[in-house]
Amino acid sequence: MSRTSNVLAATAVLAVGGLLLAGVTDPAGAAGTGLKTLAEAKGIYFGTALTQSNLSNGTLTAVAGAQFDMVTPGNEMKWDTTEPSNGSYNFGPGDQIVSFAQSHGMRVRGHNLVWHSQLPGWVSSLPSNQVQGAMEAHITTEATHYKGKVYAWDVVNEPFNEDGSLRADAFSNAMGSGYLADALRTAHAADPNAKLYLNDYNIEGQNAKSDAMYRLVSQLKSQGVPIDGVGLESHFIVGQVPSSMRANMQRFTALGLDVAVTELDDRIQLPANSGTLAQQATDYAAVVNNCLAVSRCVGVSQWGVGDADSWIPGTFPGQGAATMYDNNYQPKPAYDATSTALGGSTTTTTTTTTTTTTTTTTTTTTTTSPPPNSTCTVTDSVNAWNTGLTESVTVTNTGTAAINGWSLAFTLAGGQTVTSAWNATISPAGGQVTAKNVGYNGSVAPGASVSFGFQATHTGNTSAPGDFTLNGTRCA
Ligand code: XIL
Repeated sequence: MSRTSNVLAATAVLAVGGLLLAGVTDPAGAAGTGLKTLAEAKGIYFGTALTQSNLSNGTLTAVAGAQFDMVTPGNEMKWDTTEPSNGSYNFGPGDQIVSFAQSHGMRVRGHNLVWHSQLPGWVSSLPSNQVQGAMEAHITTEATHYKGKVYAWDVVNEPFNEDGSLRADAFSNAMGSGYLADALRTAHAADPNAKLYLNDYNIEGQNAKSDAMYRLVSQLKSQGVPIDGVGLESHFIVGQVPSSMRANMQRFTALGLDVAVTELDDRIQLPANSGTLAQQATDYAAVVNNCLAVSRCVGVSQWGVGDADSWIPGTFPGQGAATMYDNNYQPKPAYDATSTALGGSTTTTTTTTTTTTTTTTTTTTTTTSPPPNSTCTVTDSVNAWNTGLTESVTVTNTGTAAINGWSLAFTLAGGQTVTSAWNATISPAGGQVTAKNVGYNGSVAPGASVSFGFQATHTGNTSAPGDFTLNGTRCA
């Protein structure tokens, strides 16, 4: 059997250097390169927001699929879309985003279950003694619908005012601050494997609002309320990334929480010029470096793919140019700065740096004789950091019959414990494990492949499994 560990990631990273050596800018990443490849090699994800209408723009979706490995629906999972009237649910638009993500090997951040904005009028008009029931029903129904399909939920969005007081809205008015713990517990009951977040803006640096978030999540943790992370939206103004951002992230992670940059953009007074675009590049690099420096910063998501898709001009008149791609999906200086911060290279002179980056991951290729009559091959790649790793596994049906429902058995190295999986369910968490298809990816035609992945903790041994058995037959 032949096994390739990390070769996929290493090859893709090198291809970045190759492309740029040739002087070709390739935002759509025709050669399979992209920010996601660089980010994965560093143990984080790089995401984007996508709306339903974005899915019909071929240029946009090509960039999205090539560059990003996490998708946040821009509007499609918000209450006004998913439950426009009491008890009547509409998951069609959100489902479309999820299927785009799944067919491009991307994970999904669910956004969001409870928020004062984009909240249908019927919720705010409820008598206060009915709000808790409506909130719990909404969370249960939506989180159950997307169970197993989202990596994380923004369970409550934007709960605080700028001065750190609790925002007055239908939920706090009816239930006081207890609605936050209730929302988290309800979401956990519906989807115990999703990471549960509180998400807000202007909590990136240390200030009254982030102090309030810090006090809240400390209290929730000490009370045993299920909370996994804090989302820092990061809607910045060019030149104003807070200098305390890294220390702020660190104080949250010291509580045993993950942090993520969930909605990054960096707005410029229009028209942008070379000076403001250069400052934007500096800002993007600073944000990415902050995430890389904090071991439980799990990833960075930009809010939208390019300037043409950004919410900024519509919300902040006269401002815009807030993303890494211009109106024609050409990468801006912020893209190059992001790529460089992630260990990529944009010039011939720094190609060596790219190569060095790839050597930080171990490359192992083992070849043994393939078993006779095997009908599958498996490639897997591991990206490991201090105490964690992610592994991506691709199974190819090399037989002549279609597979309908798959079960892939393999043995994890000692000390590895699976903490989450995407595009498969894996049990138990360690030792001899079995990955099984989820509802949407059980059928694999002859010649076709299916990919899944998982995140695990480790105690030093980051090796990939050596043998895979598909539906009882060992793979080549
Ligand atoms: C924005 C969307 O991008 C817009 O299309 C919509 O009109 C308003 O909401 N914080 C959030 C996001 O958490 O949900 C918001 O998204 C941007 C600010």
